[in-house]
Amino acid sequence: MPQREITLRFLAEPTAVNFGGKVHGGAVMKWIDEAGYACAAGWSGRYCVTIYVGGIRFHQPIHIGDMVEVCARIIYTGRTSMHVAVQVSAGDPKTDNRRDTTQCIIVFVAVDDNGHSVAVPAWEPRDDADIALQSYAKNMMALGKEMEQNAIPFGGIASGAKS
Ligand SMILES: CC(C)(COP(=O)(O)OP(=O)(O)OC[C@H]1O[C@@H](n2cnc3c(N)ncnc32)[C@H](O)[C@@H]1OP(=O)(O)O)[C@@H](O)C(=O)NCCC(=O)NCCS
Repeated sequence: MPQREITLRFLAEPTAVNFGGKVHGGAVMKWIDEAGYACAAGWSGRYCVTIYVGGIRFHQPIHIGDMVEVCARIIYTGRTSMHVAVQVSAGDPKTDNRRDTTQCIIVFVAVDDNGHSVAVPAWEPRDDADIALQSYAKNMMALGKEMEQNAIPFGGIASGAKS
């Protein structure tokens, strides 16, 4: 059975600073994507691409020099997709104290060498906590697909139809 969960641990470096002196939100999003990718690739044994990101919430800032933990775990699998919940926590490396800072759900699709989606191993929930997470993933997927029906009306600018 492939590994369902991975945790990345590292120190928040000065290069990740924002204009307010704390860790840049974009850096946190990059870490989330990296942890999610490692989790999805490990589960599927395939190269994976991000197809959807949702539910991101920055609860608390991360300070430069904090020990950061980015935990990614599979919470739902479809035929080709893997829904990965990512939780970020951070704190003073001199202590064991960590505070939850950010959470998010990312959907990855496994692809073959031609970039076509391919089937992934099914993940089955084992306990009530897993069932709750799976149910959350299904709700988020329904919301995400509903939002796609109401795509932002850019008026074709993004697709290059207007210049
Ligand atoms: C990933 C890609 C190959 C999928 O193409 P596709 O197979 O035609 O896409 P589908 O519509 O069949 O969807 C594939 C899966 O994504 C799921 N999906 C699509 N939109 C979704 C959404 N908003 N939320 C959750 N899941 C979604 C589908 O349900 C399907 O899952 P399943 O097979 O488990 O049922 C294509 O969309 C792509 O290349 N996207 C760009 C990816 C990218 O560049 N990412 C950024 C850099 S990594």
